Amino acid sequence: TSPYDASMPLPKAELHLHVEGTLEPELAFELAARNGVRLPYGDTDELRKAYQFEDLQSFLNLYYELMAVLRTEQDFADLANAYLARAAAQGVRHAEIFFDPQAHTKRGVELGTVVEGLWRALGSSEANHGVSTRLIMCFLRDDSAESAMETLRAAEPYLDRITGVGLDSAEVGHPPVKFREVYEAAAALGLRRVAHAGEEGPPAYITEALDVLGVERVDHGLRCMEDPALVERLVRERVPLTLCPLSNVRLRTVDVLADHPLPAMLDAGLMCTVNSDDPAYFGGYAGDNFDAVRSTLGLSEDRLRELARNSFAASFLEDDEERRER
Ligand code: HPA
Ligand code: ZN
Repeated sequence: TSPYDASMPLPKAELHLHVEGTLEPELAFELAARNGVRLPYGDTDELRKAYQFEDLQSFLNLYYELMAVLRTEQDFADLANAYLARAAAQGVRHAEIFFDPQAHTKRGVELGTVVEGLWRALGSSEANHGVSTRLIMCFLRDDSAESAMETLRAAEPYLDRITGVGLDSAEVGHPPVKFREVYEAAAALGLRRVAHAGEEGPPAYITEALDVLGVERVDHGLRCMEDPALVERLVRERVPLTLCPLSNVRLRTVDVLADHPLPAMLDAGLMCTVNSDDPAYFGGYAGDNFDAVRSTLGLSEDRLRELARNSFAASFLEDDEERRER
């Protein structure tokens, strides 16, 4: 086993990444200029000052506001390409990328524009960046179940490019059960299933995501630590959790990184992975999250390797592909 070498980042898979959350201020202004969209911020410095969040909702407000600059296929291609280049530089070999179709269709940008645009980048990502990809379409849980079902139906022409469905946006008050029928329909279409649960919402939402939605991974899942019986189940069933440490600090799910439960979660035997969530907003890409937990939480080299190994094992890569990535 070789010592950690920061110039050679650990090969890893990123499993919790919202492509819209990779919109850096510089690209936001470039796209705003290209599309004639006025942003209510004078420049990138002023915009960066708005990146002070109280909770998930205060982040989501800015996240949705800035999406106004994303209008054309090329915009989505540029966004995804910029992410893939940064991820590759930090050791990401495989990325399962979330996107929020409803956040675009409700602004009059068609689903086809989003998927075709993202695909311009993802379709050539292995050749251009050495990063294999999967696309996961998320439903906004603070929109209706009917809207989610319409979105799933509208996505049927693109299902050769979409591996799975997820559930994101404001969690509290929008339990997984709201989307039971949509997830049943997604399963019938052969789609893989994940959902955000236990970020701000209670441990019961994690249980519901497993039992009612049939998810194979839980995004965040942090609050499982409040329920020992649930932890025991997640360990026994080896349910992967896609943790996002820097996101948890910036959205005040944990006070400071030094208090993050990741070490306790690993000690409990949970199958944890480390991811970036919305890296342009939360101060770091996948490698930055690994570096932060290494230096602040004092994780051993073995623990870091375990996290990297988990990321491939919990991915939707097939077994033979997975071996090639590593
Ligand atoms: N939580 C819920 N919804 C989101 C997030 C998140 O961290 N990022 C983008 N949409
Ligand atoms: Zn997320």
